[in-house]
Amino acid sequence: MIISSATDYREAARRRLPPFLFQYIDGGSYAEQTMRRNISDLADIALRQRILKNVSALNTGTELFGRKLNIPAALAPVGLTGMYARRGEVQAARAAARKGIPFTLSTVSVCPIEEVQGRSPVPIWFQLYVLKDRGFMKNALERAKAAGITTLVFTVDMPTPGARYRDAHSGMSGPNAAIRRYVQAMTHPIWAWDVGVRGRPHDLGNISRYRGNPTKLEDYIGWLANNFDPSISWKDLEWIRDYWDGPMVIKGILDPKDAKDAVRFGADGIVVSNHGGRQLDGVLSSARALPPIAEAVKGELKILADSGIRSGLDIARMVAMGADAVLLGRAFVYALAAGGQKGVENLLDIMEKELRVAMTLTGASAISDLTSESLARLAPEFG
Ligand code: FNR
Ligand code: LAC
Repeated sequence: MIISSATDYREAARRRLPPFLFQYIDGGSYAEQTMRRNISDLADIALRQRILKNVSALNTGTELFGRKLNIPAALAPVGLTGMYARRGEVQAARAAARKGIPFTLSTVSVCPIEEVQGRSPVPIWFQLYVLKDRGFMKNALERAKAAGITTLVFTVDMPTPGARYRDAHSGMSGPNAAIRRYVQAMTHPIWAWDVGVRGRPHDLGNISRYRGNPTKLEDYIGWLANNFDPSISWKDLEWIRDYWDGPMVIKGILDPKDAKDAVRFGADGIVVSNHGGRQLDGVLSSARALPPIAEAVKGELKILADSGIRSGLDIARMVAMGADAVLLGRAFVYALAAGGQKGVENLLDIMEKELRVAMTLTGASAISDLTSESLARLAPEFG
């Protein structure tokens, strides 16, 4: 199959993965309105073409939390990444390192912190969820610190998981799920050999290490619902702020008021995100949420944005609207599922080229040149 974009990788991933995994990645919550709007609202942001600006010395690099990035992007935390390709977190972290951007390890990864950091040439970022078992959080932070990780991403938009209808139908959850997954694995032999056989152990590596016995994946969705803690508030974050020495980023902000609270709290960054449309359906797309948030807090902390970013043009759009950098979610996961580490490296090459074209044709020679001036003002009737 010919691959020239993230969209092609999505199709390649659909063919390679058993449906229960593809649908888990690809789907959103409820009627998936927000998930669709993440893509369509971003596509509607019009760039302003400028010509003859001599952008021959173009530089896509930027700096974030004391580190130089090749493009203003990082890989987002994605649960179960080790089920999409063999030891998938390790492969994705290595691809990110090679392409000069950070990789974020999810709390609910297959490979534990030690395995991924041990095989990555540069420090990864670690994403923390609040589990009811608070002992786990302390343990995870200690282990992340010991491994040399300095950037912590604290995700706050999942006090409880949103309902994902596709999971019940695909065999991820629902009746006879285990048998259905087995049949799907048998009919997807490349995946079955790569991940099913050679990618073991299949468990939540970080949690298994803490509890001392494997956390199996038979009822992953049920596990999330039972173990995530809806009682979380700003107060609970204070000890983490005190305990953690490095940059702390709050992920899952959609409202300028919450962004201001994050500044008051002392966060070093926020991620404007609706979790890829996987949590509360009907909330704003990131493309719509970002501009008022940037207006409220730009310059006071680093603003990252995700949800719906599928190309280098989308990166340019988010930066022009006020993001310092973006997170790539499904885009990298599709590439990983289809082509492992090489797939992710190729996707990042594609996105860098797309970003370069967007910069060239909007007359931007540096990332800092991508501003609201790079956006075309539409007549009011176009919104
Ligand atoms: C996620 N996301 C996520 N976020 C997080 O903080 N911890 C996690 O474990 C996960 N797990 C997860 C699994 C899968 C399969 C997906 C698709 C997403 C959300 C992720 O970090 C990011 O916010 C979204 O993926 C961004 O949207 P797009 O780019 O995928 O549309
Ligand atoms: C999800 C969780 C794990 O979106 O963040 O599925």
